[in-house]
Amino acid sequence: MDNMKEVFSSAEIQRRVEELAAQIDDVYKGETVVAVCVLKGAFPFFSDLVRAMKTDLLIDFVRLASYGDRASSSEHVQITKDVEISLEGRHVLIVEDIVDTGRSMDFLMRYFSSRGAKSIRLAALIDKKERREFSVHSDFAGFDLPAGFIVGYGLDYAERYRTLPAIYELLDC
Ligand code: IMP
Ligand code: MG
Repeated sequence: MDNMKEVFSSAEIQRRVEELAAQIDDVYKGETVVAVCVLKGAFPFFSDLVRAMKTDLLIDFVRLASYGDRASSSEHVQITKDVEISLEGRHVLIVEDIVDTGRSMDFLMRYFSSRGAKSIRLAALIDKKERREFSVHSDFAGFDLPAGFIVGYGLDYAERYRTLPAIYELLDC
């Protein structure tokens, strides 16, 4: 087990997810929305959020892969699993684990917009605003995190720790 410290407890996350669900329901009032889970990291957040929401939802999944050199900003984003529902004329709610530089969400929002979505909003459990390099705004953000690498509740380090119910900071990485 790597050295880690709890930053958001399971109870804290559940409380925040319920608040976000109510806030999102309030915005969509009576509309049908396509909620898109960004795999893999958002799976627990997505599952908890959509079950706490009252909005009429269609659900779908997308998976992104980044390749290239993160440090030199020559990184590219690719879709390795696309949504299956047509987004033409639909309200789309993207559900993501973390927005960091914003590269992935900048790419995905442009892509969904090119697919004819009527509106696109972003719900991110964690917003690392200070690290932003692309102008991506989370319409609904669970927690702000200025720094640190975190795992648990879907978030991984080399594919590990996704199933932990709380969120931890990895201390020696
Ligand atoms: P961005 O494209 O730079 O915004 O990167 C977002 C992606 O990087 C997230 O969807 C995560 O998969 C990953 N990521 C960023 N920060 C962390 C972290 O602290 N823990 C785990 N994954 C992270
Ligand atoms: Mg992710």
